[in-house]
Amino acid sequence: MSWFYERLIRPALFTQDAEKAHERTMRALALISRNELLSEFVESFFSAPPLPVEISGLKFPNPIGLAAGMDKFASALPAWEALGFGFTELGGVTQYPQPGNPGPRLFRAVTESAIVNRMGFNNPGAEAMAEALSTWKAAGRWPQHPVGINLGKSKVTPLEKAADDYAFSVRALWRYADFFVVNVSSPNTPGLRQLQDKRALTEILEAVRRVQEGAKPVLVKVSPDLSFEALDELLDVAVSQKLAGIVATNTTTARPETVNPENQKIYAEEGGLSGAPLRARSTEVIRHIYRQTKGKLPIIGAGGVFNADHAWEKITAGASLIQVYTGLIYKGPALAKEIVSDLLRRLEESGIKQLHEAVGTAN
Ligand SMILES: Cc1cc2nc3c(=O)[nH]c(=O)nc-3n(C[C@H](O)[C@H](O)[C@H](O)COP(=O)(O)O)c2cc1C
Repeated sequence: MSWFYERLIRPALFTQDAEKAHERTMRALALISRNELLSEFVESFFSAPPLPVEISGLKFPNPIGLAAGMDKFASALPAWEALGFGFTELGGVTQYPQPGNPGPRLFRAVTESAIVNRMGFNNPGAEAMAEALSTWKAAGRWPQHPVGINLGKSKVTPLEKAADDYAFSVRALWRYADFFVVNVSSPNTPGLRQLQDKRALTEILEAVRRVQEGAKPVLVKVSPDLSFEALDELLDVAVSQKLAGIVATNTTTARPETVNPENQKIYAEEGGLSGAPLRARSTEVIRHIYRQTKGKLPIIGAGGVFNADHAWEKITAGASLIQVYTGLIYKGPALAKEIVSDLLRRLEESGIKQLHEAVGTAN
């Protein structure tokens, strides 16, 4: 299936502008999502075997999830389950609807399996997202796997008022989310990453907690560009605020060395880099968090996961769950199924019965 995608479909998609290709793909997935028969047809090809994981009282049918940023409008919610994902993170969503940065704002460095984006939280706003989600619920198309919602800050909201912006979205979306991810690590909203600072983050998490009618798990998503010192301060906040976990990591503003002139041009674009060049650093961050918290704080690992080896590297470094974004673009729709199947094989070979026994074992 991957062969088919990489040889036939991807070349056709990659002749198109990156954002146009994304929009077309999302339209196709939205169409599939609205049609139960089509969804079942897709599921018959792509569903993944069970590899259950339980975290914060949530049951994940498998550990491979869709990362934030792919489905910012919740337009294809049922499709992600049909494509074999064990959970979906929708958004990032902000209090106010906003168009994001002017285009072009999404770029592929194809020969290095990377993407640079400066989307800037283009999204319909928390209330419109809630409406979209209520439509899926009413139509009986809600997935059986956990659904998380990624929260950003509106561009018009000043940094001092950030807590109100996040709290507004939590209130609007509370009934739909199985968990929330407070994203303070996107490089594409000016000043956002300053919110990883102890005081600002505490204020946001307290505001989020105040609007919660009952406790839903809240995680914080971190930047791979934080120093380990800054990360340790953030982990103090995570413990004192009783966070359910950390998502590690978002995209990086760092760039790899390259001699390829095409890629040099892409890497010169402003924005966050994802995909293969991010892989090692995000694993390093996962490993650090796992060690510092003695494995007590669940970690969702993201950054350059394209196959089961990459997922295994992050799991054994300390991640309990994995997310993919760029891998899906380069490897295609069978990615979740392939990773889960290969992970299962690997567990059987090493005589491990449950995935959680492998978490952090490389440390
Ligand atoms: C186009 C694009 C948009 C993204 N939007 C968001 C977002 O809104 N919120 C967020 O927390 N992360 C966002 N991300 C980051 C991804 O969720 C993920 O953390 C990162 O891309 C690393 O994983 P990957 O190498 O598998 O892509 C975005 C990534 C891309 C490529």
